[in-house]
Amino acid sequence: MKKDLIGIKDLNSKEVEELLELTSELKNDPAKFDRTLKGKSLALIFEKPSNRTYVSFQVGMYELGGNSIYLGPEHIKLGVRESIPDIARTLSRYVDGIVFRTFAQKSLLEMAKYSKVPVINGLSDLTHPCQGLADIYTIKEKFGKFKGLILVYIGDGNNVCHSLLYAASKVGLNLNIATPKGYAPDPAIVEETKKIGNKTGCRIKLFLNPQEAVKGADVIYTDVWASMGQETEAKKREKAFKDFQVNNGLVKKAFKNALIMHCLPAHRGLEITSEIMDSLNSIVFDQAENRMHVQKAILIKLLAPEANGNED
Ligand code: CP
Ligand code: NVA
Repeated sequence: MKKDLIGIKDLNSKEVEELLELTSELKNDPAKFDRTLKGKSLALIFEKPSNRTYVSFQVGMYELGGNSIYLGPEHIKLGVRESIPDIARTLSRYVDGIVFRTFAQKSLLEMAKYSKVPVINGLSDLTHPCQGLADIYTIKEKFGKFKGLILVYIGDGNNVCHSLLYAASKVGLNLNIATPKGYAPDPAIVEETKKIGNKTGCRIKLFLNPQEAVKGADVIYTDVWASMGQETEAKKREKAFKDFQVNNGLVKKAFKNALIMHCLPAHRGLEITSEIMDSLNSIVFDQAENRMHVQKAILIKLLAPEANGNED
């Protein structure tokens, strides 16, 4: 693997497969790895709020025998008190890895450029790779395969959607994406992932009609209509996305047993109804749990690439 995990784009299909295999090992036998990162420290720099990413990295690092340090906006005052290059240079002297949740992709790339230790994207406006990897791990866990399945993403062509495009294309999982007009994913990412998909057997289709998109769905996935940083657009977006709610009517158009996914946090009653989120087919909390197992695998691959369990 490369030094940093900026996006799933950086991983080839074999590396994705190896990460998912290590994730299974970690999930099934956590004790085998409980000292693997002993003596190592991880900085968690967050410019946006978080529950899953923050807690799962912290607990994950602890379960690997390592230590983590949370640096929220109030601690580090990124770009105000100190520049990103100077933060990266300093932290590289103390810690063995940096998880960075930020707005601009440029900030993430700058952190990675000046950091001597691995930088992991904990969500940017462009992508959310840890989420995408946990999502495909969860799909593999439920179905035992990717080939022939259809994942249907309904909603905003945002960071999560972009990471699903990369993840699905790398493993040969078919992906339908339904967005309102003007909210489609980045066309360059769609083109790029379609090309990757041609080699792996992943067919990517874009729709403007969610009813059409969910036909034959094995999994239906949604995310918030207004992401962090888009709060002022919330009302406008509620109008634009009103026909894109994942509700009983829409789910009925998919395969009877289609599973329901959401990266969380969910806005019940907007992008998803409580009825669907709490239904028997909903796997949203399995998905949330798997964030931690996948991230432990990422941490081992980047911070102790030679390790095959505890070293002592
Ligand atoms: N899904 C996700 O990244 O959740 P948090 O924003 O709570 O970390
Ligand atoms: N698209 C959402 C994902 C949250 C995990 C956001 O960026 O806010």
